[in-house]
Amino acid sequence: MNDLKIFLKNKKILITGHTGFKGSWLAQMLIYCGADAVGISLEPKIDPNLFGLLDLQKRMRGYFCDIRNFKKIKEIIAFEKPEIIFHLAAQPLVRDSYDDPLYTFETNIIGTANILQAAKDLGDVKAIVAITTDKVYEEKIGCFYEENDKLGGYDPYSASKAGAEMVINSYINSFFNPEFYGKKHHTLAASARAGNVFGGGDWLSRIFPDIVRSIFEKKEKLIIRNPDSIRPWQHVFDPLYGYLLLAKELYDGKREFSGAWNFGPDAKSYLTVENLVKQTFDIFKRGAYDINQDFVKREAGCLKLNSNKARRLLGWHPVYDIGDSVRIACEWYEAFYRGNDIKQITDCQIDLFFNKITKI
Ligand SMILES: NC(=O)c1ccc[n+]([C@@H]2O[C@H](COP(=O)([O-])OP(=O)(O)OC[C@H]3O[C@@H](n4cnc5c(N)ncnc54)[C@H](O)[C@@H]3O)[C@@H](O)[C@H]2O)c1
Repeated sequence: MNDLKIFLKNKKILITGHTGFKGSWLAQMLIYCGADAVGISLEPKIDPNLFGLLDLQKRMRGYFCDIRNFKKIKEIIAFEKPEIIFHLAAQPLVRDSYDDPLYTFETNIIGTANILQAAKDLGDVKAIVAITTDKVYEEKIGCFYEENDKLGGYDPYSASKAGAEMVINSYINSFFNPEFYGKKHHTLAASARAGNVFGGGDWLSRIFPDIVRSIFEKKEKLIIRNPDSIRPWQHVFDPLYGYLLLAKELYDGKREFSGAWNFGPDAKSYLTVENLVKQTFDIFKRGAYDINQDFVKREAGCLKLNSNKARRLLGWHPVYDIGDSVRIACEWYEAFYRGNDIKQITDCQIDLFFNKITKI
């Protein structure tokens, strides 16, 4: 058994956003490791969804509660008394943030403050990993971002996540300050900034699910809006692995792990959107697309993450390169659309991943 599995076994862990794409994978991983997982989220809004396919509602405790509702969030956290919190709940889409900026700001900024405040009020949480994004940085030439680079955010989603970072940083300074750890408080907190994540079980309006839908649901040809945008593409397992390692260090009281962390892919995984599409079509051996550029809902042209800090201090590095990542995600969707046992393939993929990290 590897260290992470031993560490996670029987730990009481709260995931906010456990009904979402990344949250469902994280929940399944925690269950696989024998953790006592509990979730807070909204009900899934799309069908199919990974949360439903994995039957997570029956396999872990969960609360359908809006993270903007501080009173209820505080009650749940006070009742559940988690030792570790992974905060993923958010409005996660740039395009939706243009349609509803206020909801995006409330959920992503105030929602984050509510979770941190409820944890502070409880006083017993040992580790908090709050998930933001690679989009928190003010855009700069070269677009290769380190943790200490200036925060920014052009569109409401990116700005809301930069806002969440300010909130997290303020809670770290004011209430979870590593300097006073063990004297004035018992909580260490960090933020995690990963790239564009894909993997089986995502059906949101994002490029990878769009590719999959264009192939298997054949309703319409794939439309690419930002063909030349360069993104840090990652299989969902890689950032989740980083979050777990980070939580372990915080839980173990290692003060130097408090703060912000980038978790980006290796250098070869920075593809343009169009190249990702071509590579995925190659694996499925079919697919066609049209380009229809969107100049209204602007998105950053290029995003690259410097993850040297995570590599050096956490010993984290991406396990899957872009080829593996696309192949593994494609295998999951193939299995789903063929009607195979999706719980089995999901656990099989998690098992393979944990075997790989044991050997690192
Ligand atoms: N998927 C990516 O490529 C990516 C990249 C960088 C960062 N992230 C971040 O990772 C996290 C998870 O993203 P995802 O892709 O799984 O998104 P998702 O939409 O699949 O999941 C979002 C989750 O948040 C919950 N949620 C949303 N609004 C809420 C509210 N007001 N109250 C309570 N719960 C609420 C949803 O119910 C869901 O469980 C987000 O914080 C997102 O910003 C995702």
